[in-house]
Amino acid sequence: MIPLSFYLVTDTHYFEPSLGASGKAFDNYMRKEQYFMRESSAIVKATFEKLAADKTVDTVLIPGDLSKNGEIESHKGFLKELKKLKESGKKIFVITAGHDYGEKSRAFVGDEQIEVEGTPFEILRELYADYGYSQALAVDDSTLTYVAEIAPKVRLLAINCDSKGNPKGTVDERLEAWIKIQLDEAKKDGCKVFAMCHYPMIPSVPVFDLVGDAKLKDWRRTASFLADNGVEFIFTGHMHIQSINEYVSENGNKIYDICTACLVGSPAKYRKVVFDGEKLTVESFDTPDCGCDPGNLTVREYFDNKFSTAIQNRILDALNGGKGAVKVLKRAGKKIISGITLGGFGRLLWIGVDKSIRKVKFIDFAGNIGVAIFKGDMPYSVETPEGKVIAKVLKRFRFIVKKVEPKLSKNGVEVNLTEMLLNSIYNNKGFSDNNAVIELDKN
Ligand SMILES: [Fe+2]
Ligand SMILES: [Fe+2]
Repeated sequence: MIPLSFYLVTDTHYFEPSLGASGKAFDNYMRKEQYFMRESSAIVKATFEKLAADKTVDTVLIPGDLSKNGEIESHKGFLKELKKLKESGKKIFVITAGHDYGEKSRAFVGDEQIEVEGTPFEILRELYADYGYSQALAVDDSTLTYVAEIAPKVRLLAINCDSKGNPKGTVDERLEAWIKIQLDEAKKDGCKVFAMCHYPMIPSVPVFDLVGDAKLKDWRRTASFLADNGVEFIFTGHMHIQSINEYVSENGNKIYDICTACLVGSPAKYRKVVFDGEKLTVESFDTPDCGCDPGNLTVREYFDNKFSTAIQNRILDALNGGKGAVKVLKRAGKKIISGITLGGFGRLLWIGVDKSIRKVKFIDFAGNIGVAIFKGDMPYSVETPEGKVIAKVLKRFRFIVKKVEPKLSKNGVEVNLTEMLLNSIYNNKGFSDNNAVIELDKN
């Protein structure tokens, strides 16, 4: 039934707070975490209340990482919220992912991390039966990939690329053959198919093509396969980033990947999608204020601060450890990086830094650029002070970049690292990562 509209919510990473989320071990763990673990249940609750209140949209898609780390109590808590949302009149379709069964389930009590009961992959289908599997026209038993009718003549292909049998972004030839049967069936029945998958299919920003866990394995093959079989849109998550990307197969068929950020930490977004047969309109919303105490910051600043600090802590912690000369070098590097300003950094490398950002600390700059990438719509062209400085650094290290590039090239796809990095900090795609109107080609 066209027009069709639905909400997209992903990576809810729901954690049941009564398991324990406080103490020294918890604070230490949270130093490097992007999102709010203790507050995740309140954020999910507040968001679902918002969705329930919108009576104009009756469908919600959730592509995976439903729980923090597969704690059975977190699944039970999340299911209670799903039930309330369903009772408000919504049809909900989920897929599960690695964080729903495969991770070490733990809670934090006092100064200790304690192991808590996890969830075997084998019971996920039963747990989430009311949210896709029992409505499905077909289910691939080994991966829990399924096809369901979400509106008359509209089907959802919910691809599970992160199950026990095909972990971490795998869509292998066996699963592809199963999907082909479903797509042929849909075509025969005159149905439009939208796809959903946990891992981004297309790297969210160009440089993520070099990061193994950032997109589907062999993503060009899957993208071409889906596009050539009539799928025009896939809705994804996993990378906790807002991005929209397009890919054109060798046969000239186009597919868009709409990747939505993590709900419970910066950039903390969910989306509304409307398809009218000719165009897809994507609108993004901030997760609602869930009652957390942001101190003297706005809720948005509080979320972004948390993420920026986590990035900075990861960078600085990477400079811990080592032995002998390596340890000394790392320690010196850490001291420089934690204190140096961009102006000082520029002087070290003999590059000019615009006055407006000279006093910004290097480590804050790194954290803020990281946060900005995940928000999508990166503004840093080489005309901006930030873009200029990054371009100059890349130029300064061109001799290293040139050596590294051939090693990064795979399957005959050449890598231009400078271009990749500069296109990762500046959105020049011609459409927004957050609020976009995607017109389908008429031919
Ligand atoms: Fe996630
Ligand atoms: Fe994930």
